[in-house]
Amino acid sequence: MSRKKIVAGNWKMNNDFNESEQLLNNLISQSKLNDVKIMIAPSFVNLKYSIDRLKLSTIEVISQDVHQSKNGAYTGEVSASMLKSIGVNTTIIGHSERREYFNETHDLLKLKVDNALSNSMNIIFCFGEELVDRKNNNHFNIISKQISESLFHLDNKYWKSVILAYEPVWAIGTGETASSDQVQEMHSFIREFICKKYDQQLSNNLSILYGGSVKPTNAKEIFSMNDVDGGLIGGASLNAVDFFKIINSF
Ligand code: PGA
Repeated sequence: MSRKKIVAGNWKMNNDFNESEQLLNNLISQSKLNDVKIMIAPSFVNLKYSIDRLKLSTIEVISQDVHQSKNGAYTGEVSASMLKSIGVNTTIIGHSERREYFNETHDLLKLKVDNALSNSMNIIFCFGEELVDRKNNNHFNIISKQISESLFHLDNKYWKSVILAYEPVWAIGTGETASSDQVQEMHSFIREFICKKYDQQLSNNLSILYGGSVKPTNAKEIFSMNDVDGGLIGGASLNAVDFFKIINSF
């Protein structure tokens, strides 16, 4: 089994230039005690500076999103080739905030996935159920649909560029975390679901991250679960000390 352990910080629409500079300095001053791969996703405007600033660091700078088209008249949007040209090789796709506030559907996300992968980018593909789905015991169906509709058209070979992030919407930015048992139950369901569609080796090698109010106080327990390979961290990634406490919880 060669699953990578990954902790990725999603800065969302936080940190202007000066704040980003400060946070990058603070991140550089922290020490990592393990073999976890670290990623950060600043806003588009701060990507290039972050890459230059982290040139001597092993922290990878990734984007929070990418457009589904190669180029063209799409005012305000950013293409995969633009990202690649400044050294961004990984992008988040399908975050619940994109799904909710920007109406990103399964079909649109499928196009984004294809465009990113055909530009040789890696993707962190996010999905997660809402509270009502869990209350109605419909969460496994929702997750199956989110994964299959946007990813199951992919050939096996593309999956080495895919990282999954299970992020129950009810746990994002709410301070409410899924219990480690709930997380493990869902992650093992996802791995089995991928295994049924593809094969054992592919699903064993797939990193599945958990996201939703991960903090220094709960990271260790969540990361100790068999099928949890790391985290996608929002709020706590805005503080370098907390972020590294999470990274060092593995
Ligand atoms: P949170 O965000 O850690 O602030 O809950 C997680 C995410 O949206 O990736």
